[in-house]
Amino acid sequence: MKTQTPPCRSKGSEMGMRGGSGTVWASLHIVVMVAATMIMSVSATPPADPIRCTSSGCTITNSYGAFPDRSTCKAGAVAYPTSEEELVWVVGNATKSKRKMKVATRFSHSIPKLVCPDGEEGLLVSTKYMTRIVRVDQEGMRMSVEGGVTLRQLIEEAAKVGMALPYAPYWWGLTIGGMLGTGAHGSSLWGKGSALHDYVEAMRIVIPGGPGDGYARIRTLDVNTKSTHAEMNAVKVSLGVLGVIAQVTLKLQPLFKRSLTYSIKGDSNLGEQAANFGNLHEFADIIWYPSQQKVVYRIDNRITLDASGNGLYNFIPFRATSSLTLALVRSTEELQESINDADGKCNGAKLISSTLETDAYGLTNNGIIFSGYPVIGYHNRLQSSGTCLDSPHDGLITACPWDPRVKGEFFHQTTFSIGLSMVRSFIEDIQQLVTLEPKALCGVELYNGILMRYVKASSAYLGKQEDAIDFDITYYRSKDPLSPRLYQDVLEEIEQMALFKYGALPHWGKNRNLAFDGAIKRYKKAQEFLKVKETYDPLGLFSSEWTDQVLGLKEGVSIVKDGCALEGLCICSQDAHCAPNKGYHCKPGKVYKEARVCTRTSVKAQ
Ligand SMILES: *[C@@H]1O[C@H](CO)[C@@H](O)[C@H](O)[C@H]1NC(C)=O
Repeated sequence: MKTQTPPCRSKGSEMGMRGGSGTVWASLHIVVMVAATMIMSVSATPPADPIRCTSSGCTITNSYGAFPDRSTCKAGAVAYPTSEEELVWVVGNATKSKRKMKVATRFSHSIPKLVCPDGEEGLLVSTKYMTRIVRVDQEGMRMSVEGGVTLRQLIEEAAKVGMALPYAPYWWGLTIGGMLGTGAHGSSLWGKGSALHDYVEAMRIVIPGGPGDGYARIRTLDVNTKSTHAEMNAVKVSLGVLGVIAQVTLKLQPLFKRSLTYSIKGDSNLGEQAANFGNLHEFADIIWYPSQQKVVYRIDNRITLDASGNGLYNFIPFRATSSLTLALVRSTEELQESINDADGKCNGAKLISSTLETDAYGLTNNGIIFSGYPVIGYHNRLQSSGTCLDSPHDGLITACPWDPRVKGEFFHQTTFSIGLSMVRSFIEDIQQLVTLEPKALCGVELYNGILMRYVKASSAYLGKQEDAIDFDITYYRSKDPLSPRLYQDVLEEIEQMALFKYGALPHWGKNRNLAFDGAIKRYKKAQEFLKVKETYDPLGLFSSEWTDQVLGLKEGVSIVKDGCALEGLCICSQDAHCAPNKGYHCKPGKVYKEARVCTRTSVKAQ
């Protein structure tokens, strides 16, 4: 049992009953104490709290335990408001002393360091206890929730009253505020598309204020109020730089059922099929295994409530997994990397994809067994999952596969969207690469291939600019930042091709540094976003060096140093950016010649 450390507090000063609102602060203080007790006293297997504090300050990380640049992110203190009133107080108190702030959540699943305040004295404002369902309007099919409500909670609470959020990310350990901050989405070209932010009807956001308003203000935005449209379009996807989202009202739909069938085909005509497939099925998506030349089409549509079936989607890679298995898988992968065993990876990929196929990826027809397609069930039981979040408190015998406390998955995720009209050409370019290097993408297939999800153009200033397919590519990351990965060059070429040949938009909550370099220029209304930022937070208290860089206000998204290309901190321009001592040199791409990638030249991978 660990010793009880005092909860997070401002360095050197007691979080006492000072300031404007004694009672508010007292209850807040209690929550801080309780939170600290909960974190410190159990060896929990659910994910650890990403925030850790000692008497000398706090650190925050993401759920994978590492940011793209592996920096440590520090803060002076954390506040856990439990209501909007407390939140206003917290933001006001910090604004008064011009203190930097960042919003943090219970799980912290964003990969880039959006949660890091500048310096070491900043304040983390956690929404961990802002998890209330505020209002349910069954007649108007609307639900108002606090910013820290998780997707899982939203889905469950909505279903209880016969309502549904039609489209959502597949991983439910995300908060409403976090999803809006990063533009998170599911997959659909139907209706308003798959992004959560396009179902927002109203919002309440707490922003810095002046002496006249106690240094904090609440802005109330509503789609039906014309005067707040610009603000709405900014706040809907905000990277967290505008303030703290206190409350969100979402437009929902009557609960429905779905019928889902996975259909496996060859990938020879994927380029032709991909764009249109999204028009054919409401919940369509595609998993692509390029080295196996195989595609899994998700044929998934809305059906009436009277259809029989009580299917459940408990996606296997999101389940609690035994630490022993995780360690074995990781060690195998590390070994394959160290001896350049491409065949080993390809065999492993085939085994994993055929196992997932046999187990229907975690689908069952009745919550217990899978007996065949179609799987028919209530939308709320099929739309998202993530049962590893409630792994038993078993001292890490099982955990989420990427839990940094166990030896398990450690990966990069390159995720971007490409306009529908260019998807075919992009896919065919990848296929050409696979023809040249047939084993190159087996490593991606070990992480269940390339997930392709549909997204629609949005009115959000930092939302998608056109209808698109979002490509999600997950691949091995070494614990050693200077260690290259097998077929590094092909992965880098795909990344650069997407971004620079096809003008792809990076997912704000994923990716490595280089993906954001210049990305803001591809947003037509970026200036409008910055105008709202200027009026909401003129001092930039919610901004950091990183968000300024991403928003194009500062240089330096790329970090140029020896080995920088290995971690996607830069695009190589000289061999030193790769790993020349290990035979990786900076070379042009094979299909997209303008790419500059770290290619293994001394010995050919066998
Ligand atoms: C209010 O802000 C000041 C200055 O940042 C800080 O020292 C103090 O601890 C804050 N009060 C509380 C109770 O957080």
